[in-house]
Amino acid sequence: MTKTSILFVCLGNICRSPVAEGVFRQKITDAGLDQHFEIDSAGTAEWHTGKSPDSRMIEAAAERGYDLKNLRARQVQPGDFNNFDLILAMDEENLMNLQDVAPDEPAAKMSLFLTYADNPGTTEVPDPYFGGNAGFHHVIDLVENAADGLIRSLQKDLPANSS
Ligand code: 4NP
Repeated sequence: MTKTSILFVCLGNICRSPVAEGVFRQKITDAGLDQHFEIDSAGTAEWHTGKSPDSRMIEAAAERGYDLKNLRARQVQPGDFNNFDLILAMDEENLMNLQDVAPDEPAAKMSLFLTYADNPGTTEVPDPYFGGNAGFHHVIDLVENAADGLIRSLQKDLPANSS
């Protein structure tokens, strides 16, 4: 069976997109849907390549049951645009940067992650990097909301009783 591959993208790949990857992975595991998905995350910038997620995000995510410790940052690569079915950006700037470097006819569909969220009150997952702890939990609230909506949307395309 073909898998749906999803790449979550932010700027540094140390705060928002790693937690999107971790939350989505946990939710599909809990739903018994692991075998249907390939998931990864990346940053539009290369600054943090090889680094673990920000320790503040590792801690906030752990408090909510998500383990990000083993993730490592990487920059978006040209091949990503044809290797993934969906590339989901955390904010408008990330989406514009992706569209700027994408090949002419990418296989991947690109959109804002929060288009899948239910009444999030915003279109963007805000960058928590320069703020306090509450910002990290706000990111997780938005990411959980969008991850639930993304799973509902993708489950419509899965064969019946596939879990
Ligand atoms: P992220 O957050 O894009 O959610 O990973 C940031 C991480 C690092 C920086 C900015 C945003 N930075 O300026 O280094």
